[in-house]
Amino acid sequence: MTFPLRVLRLLTDLYGLRAAGVSPLKLALYVAELELDRRFWAYLSAQIRDARAAGPEAGGWVSFAVGSILYALVRLERPRTVVETGVGPGASSAFILNALRHNGTGVLHSIDLPQEFSTGSYQAVHVPAGFGAGWLIPGWLKGRWRLTVGDAGVALPEVVRAVGTVDLFFHDSLHTDEQVRFELEAVWPSVRPGGLILADDVNPHWSLAFVDFCREQGLSFAVFRGRLGVGRKPRGEMGAR
Ligand SMILES: C[S@@+](CC[C@H](N)C(=O)[O-])C[C@H]1O[C@@H](n2cnc3c(N)ncnc32)[C@H](O)[C@@H]1O
Repeated sequence: MTFPLRVLRLLTDLYGLRAAGVSPLKLALYVAELELDRRFWAYLSAQIRDARAAGPEAGGWVSFAVGSILYALVRLERPRTVVETGVGPGASSAFILNALRHNGTGVLHSIDLPQEFSTGSYQAVHVPAGFGAGWLIPGWLKGRWRLTVGDAGVALPEVVRAVGTVDLFFHDSLHTDEQVRFELEAVWPSVRPGGLILADDVNPHWSLAFVDFCREQGLSFAVFRGRLGVGRKPRGEMGAR
């Protein structure tokens, strides 16, 4: 697809995110800002090239279109506390951390299983031999990163309790209905009014539990390209703790 067509398609797709109370134009400006970050893109390309040389199946990261939206949302919302489940290669973490660095504020708390507990495919695909969890995250972005190694079923409620208030939550661990729902219910009371909940792979192939949750809570939400679910907690709502 040519550059102008790619931009037009992106703007059209971003338009849908208005449902989650996000300005498509402001998002587009931050996507453009990221496009110009040559050091960041060069690092991702080099890491992927090296990982594919070590293990040709290396993959499993969020699409770079979704990563760019994560970046833009974090730039726009300026969260102080971001929590994510599912690190693997660390693409989503890298995009979020890059935005936090540009914001000059905020911390990302990420949770992933110990590698020995992950399934064989996670080991071969997400974290090839010789590469640790988060291998796509540039060293210069790690100052704002706190990684908890453990099962989100146990670690997520602990992390949420420790941070107190969550400004933005991103689910990208196991996409079963049960896991998605568990994580959203665990984090929801601590999401600040006006805060965002996000999930990757929101589609019938993986799970629509994110959509069900948003509908049950009466949230305005949108799904970007059948992938990234974005829902906003009403600004007046104080979560029950
Ligand atoms: C799709 S990958 C994450 C990709 C990552 N967000 C990125 O963009 O590079 C899914 C990750 O979820 C992790 N995971 C699966 N079940 C989990 C659980 N119960 N608790 C924590 N992490 C889990 C896996 O170990 C794997 O690394």
